[in-house]
Amino acid sequence: MRILSGIQPSGALHLGNYFGMMRPAIELQEEGEAYYFIANYHSMTSLFDAEERRRNTVSVALDFLACGLDPKKSVFFRQSDVPEVVELSWLLATVTPMGLLERCHSYKDKIARGVSPNHGLFAYPVLMAADILIYDSNIVPVGRDQKQHVEVTRDIAIKFNEAYGQTFVIPEPQIREEVAVVPGTDGQKMSKSYGNVIEIFGDEKAARKQIMSLVMDSRTPQEPKPDADKNLAIQLMKLVAPANIAKDFEDRLRAGGLGYGDLKKALFEHYWNYFAAARTKRAELAANPDYVESVLRDGAEQAHRIADGVLKRARRASGLD
Ligand code: ADP
Ligand code: TRP
Repeated sequence: MRILSGIQPSGALHLGNYFGMMRPAIELQEEGEAYYFIANYHSMTSLFDAEERRRNTVSVALDFLACGLDPKKSVFFRQSDVPEVVELSWLLATVTPMGLLERCHSYKDKIARGVSPNHGLFAYPVLMAADILIYDSNIVPVGRDQKQHVEVTRDIAIKFNEAYGQTFVIPEPQIREEVAVVPGTDGQKMSKSYGNVIEIFGDEKAARKQIMSLVMDSRTPQEPKPDADKNLAIQLMKLVAPANIAKDFEDRLRAGGLGYGDLKKALFEHYWNYFAAARTKRAELAANPDYVESVLRDGAEQAHRIADGVLKRARRASGLD
């Protein structure tokens, strides 16, 4: 079984990225051949600063390795180190109906938020399909917002197979329902582009500020809160604290008498401890950039071998050989 996922180097990684995608991906490396990459080509659709892309790429590599991606178990690489994917993306583009892309929520959301659309942004799901198909991937662990993109990938693969004969493996998205959408400090989906994130490796002061800014209502501490399970701090507490402790806070909030300030302080402490070991590991890795670079290079070499074979298969099928 081959597992594949990617993450864009478009800003600091946050709890949504961690619980929605990175942790499931890291767990899956025990269960199959895992391929994880830094989607730097994709980041070009929204980030236009070369130095920032370089910096973010290193930062995503450090974050992922610090959180437990093990280069002995997973192939970890930069998307652009296997440029064959861009050629495959063209082959796929020619069998992709316009309507399929026009229906993509992610594209429509970005336009609605005032992002000026470039062709790359529109074609984003086609490149993502190439990422997935070029490694004969079976399983794609992602957060719920990426589900539609994996469905589009399946449609594109089926179209190509229909036009040119059996060429691509049809992948399945894998979404953990309990963390499919991690809420941000404002209660919306946590996202780099909404300014509502709690970073995984933010500095202590900034992270405390992010957590203390969680949006609460104006009820007094004494009031019982029958909807305690909907409280943002409780939802996040369930991710970073042991289950019995999170339950205890939920019960206290429901009964009345627990203030939001105290709840947030406790959440900060649990969050800080949850990532303590990873934080130490990240600092060690950051001091050893040559090692990190060698991991990504080795990964690219391995990824390249698979990609090369699948691209040849697609070229042959479509009469480009
Ligand atoms: P962002 O929305 O912050 O730009 P990305 O689009 O780079 O995040 O997402 C990278 C991965 O993290 C994807 O698999 C995505 O589904 C997952 N992810 C991002 N935000 C969340 C969230 N709030 N809850 C669950 N998963 C998320
Ligand atoms: N679009 C994904 C995101 O924003 C990143 C990505 C690019 C990806 N290519 C992929 C994820 C292939 C899974 C498989 O999160």
